[in-house]
Amino acid sequence: MDDVRLGNAATFERLEHFYDAVPRDVARVEEHGPLVLFVREGPGWPFYARPRLDATAPVSVADVTAVRQRQRQLGQPEAFEWVHERNPDLLAVTRAAGLAVLEAPLMVLDPAAALAAPADFTDVPVRLLDPAAPGFAADVAARRAVAAVGFAVAGTARGEVGPAQRDAAITELDAASLEEERSRTADGRRLSVLAETPTEGALASGMAMPVGDTAEIAGVATLPSARRRGLAAAVTAALAHALRRAGVDLIFLSAGSEEIARVYLRVGFRRLGTACIAEPSALI
Ligand SMILES: CC(C)(COP(=O)(O)OP(=O)(O)OC[C@H]1O[C@@H](n2cnc3c(N)ncnc32)[C@H](O)[C@@H]1OP(=O)(O)O)[C@@H](O)C(=O)NCCC(=O)NCCS
Repeated sequence: MDDVRLGNAATFERLEHFYDAVPRDVARVEEHGPLVLFVREGPGWPFYARPRLDATAPVSVADVTAVRQRQRQLGQPEAFEWVHERNPDLLAVTRAAGLAVLEAPLMVLDPAAALAAPADFTDVPVRLLDPAAPGFAADVAARRAVAAVGFAVAGTARGEVGPAQRDAAITELDAASLEEERSRTADGRRLSVLAETPTEGALASGMAMPVGDTAEIAGVATLPSARRRGLAAAVTAALAHALRRAGVDLIFLSAGSEEIARVYLRVGFRRLGTACIAEPSALI
């Protein structure tokens, strides 16, 4: 930890409330002992189980096994997420329950630090999506396609996959999904950024989800052919600037690996702790 002021219990407390609040917007809540399971009601990625905010008892292997059974019954992934520093015992407990755990660097933007500008990393233009613009539907489709192609090629290496594969991955949004994107963007619950050139189109993308004065940056991805040109750093910086302008003072993210964390370090983020994601071992 570079900055002891960031590693305080109050920050972890705010993050815990954020993680607990985000799914409640769109999910039903089931409480299972010291765990809470979020069950998404509409379209979108399924949620996970977390330790309950108000839990007093520790999570046991039996608690994890019971929630996995319920997740299977609901057709949900058997996924659990938590912050290691808040629930240090859960690592051993989920492993003992037969799950594999991804330990992702949990990073926060140092509020005292100067924030790099997108242009510090690349000449490629980076822009925030505007829900009132005529091209909004196409922009969202591009953001989703870049993320789908980018996340399909893990790691940070350059590769052949590029705009052709992005274009092949573009799908028109159904009316409900487009309306959800538009209303969330219009009322500030979602920020989306694209890095694109006039000739190559969208090359990198990312999103942020503010809840009050806390926001998570997620889904940052660059097409393999455009990697190692500073695009992810620029996208992250653009999101962080927009969040600060909106009054958000705790900006955080989980990096997929120590290697990926270097991208965010260069923008001004610092390691605070570890975000854990447990799933059946074949998935990690
Ligand atoms: C992780 C990912 C988003 C990084 O995207 P990117 O646009 O290549 O990121 P950047 O260009 O900002 O930085 C990557 C590297 O390129 C280097 N770089 C940046 N600009 C450069 C330039 N002009 N010349 C040479 N190297 C450069 C950076 O220093 C960094 O090097 P490092 O790995 O040694 O730290 C991308 O690899 C990706 O989409 N991976 C799969 C999805 C994923 O894991 N997303 C992250 C989820 S947290």
